[in-house]
Formats: sequence, C-alpha cells, structure tokens
Amino acid sequence: TASSGLPVRVDLLTGHFDAINVQHKSTCMRDLQGVFSDDAARKALPEDFEVYHVEMLASPQQEGELHTGTTHLMPGKVADEFFMTRGHFHQRREQAEFYFGLRGEGILLLQPENAPAYTEQVFAGSVHHIPSFTAHRLVNTGHDVLSALAVWPVIAGHDYQSLQPDGFRIRVFDRDGKVSLEVAGV
Ligand code: PA5
Ligand code: NI
Repeated sequence: TASSGLPVRVDLLTGHFDAINVQHKSTCMRDLQGVFSDDAARKALPEDFEVYHVEMLASPQQEGELHTGTTHLMPGKVADEFFMTRGHFHQRREQAEFYFGLRGEGILLLQPENAPAYTEQVFAGSVHHIPSFTAHRLVNTGHDVLSALAVWPVIAGHDYQSLQPDGFRIRVFDRDGKVSLEVAGV
C-alpha cells in the first residue's frame, strides 16, 4: 500500500521550521551601520546583539523555484527608532514576494521605485503582497518578537545598495509611547 510522505512542518505560532535542512542567517547590531537615523546610538549598543535572524528552507537554486523563510525581529529601539530589518529591493526588480505575519506586532514599509512609500500593519494572520519594483522592510513596534513568513522567487536576489543612504522615505519612531510614522525630508 502507498503511504503519503511527511512534509516539513512549520509552527504557525512561531514560524520555526521542523526540517533537517534549515539554514540560519543572523543580523547583529554591528551589521546595521547606516540603517538607523541615529548611528551614534546604534554604535553605543552591544555590537553582537542579534537584531533579527532568518531561518530558511533549502531550495533548488534555479529559475522558477521559490525560497521560504521566517524572519524573527527582536523588539527594541535604537534611540527612539524601532528595530527593523535592513530592507531591500530585489535585484530583479520585477520579482514580487509574499509576507505572512505570524506573531508580534509591527509595520511593513513598502517603497515603490517611482511612487510614495506606504505601510501595512503586521500581526498574526496578516497577509502582505509585496509588488514588483517595491523595496520592503519590517519594523517591530511591539514588545515581543515579530515573526513573519516570506515566500519569494529564488532568482529575485537582494539589492541593499539602492536604498542607501535614505531610500525609505518613512521611518518609525516611539514618541512618548506612541508609534509615529515620520516622512523623511519634510
Ligand atoms: O526575502 C525577504 O524579503 C526576507 O526574507 C528578508 O530577506 C528578511 O526579512 C531579512 O531582511 P533583509 O534581507 O532586508 O536584511
Ligand atoms: Ni525580499
């Protein structure tokens, strides 16, 4: 008799994968030079503090295939600015992506190449289409870990350079306990 295979499991409360071949990438305070508006404040924090890490399933490295990974972003601030991912365009700008909020509270910053930046709230169960030609960054505005599952084309690639020095027009601050979206250069 035939039996059906055992798939990989994901814990939907945390985004942790139960699989043999999970790859991990850690991003620490020292890796985030120039990302926060107050870089002196960032430098004053422990350089080996892990701001976020990504766990990824192994994917075939060929056109048409998809990556699947969960980002775990710690709660915290650099001065008054909430912890966030570096953020990127895809090298192949036309490639889109999906994010799925699993736990915690945050904001997804979306920056189209030729249109104003906009945001979406991220929470357990939120679904986010990241369109073509749109840079994206997660911000943790809560008190707990923010975890989001992502699915994106293997050929997309990451382009971190095009956003420097201040390609994201919106920054997210804690102003007296309130989440404040602030547009740069206004
Ligand atoms: O593919 C994605 O967009 C995510 O998996 C990100 O790579 C992840 O959130 C880490 O962010 P960044 O690549 O901007 O450091
Ligand atoms: Ni991406």
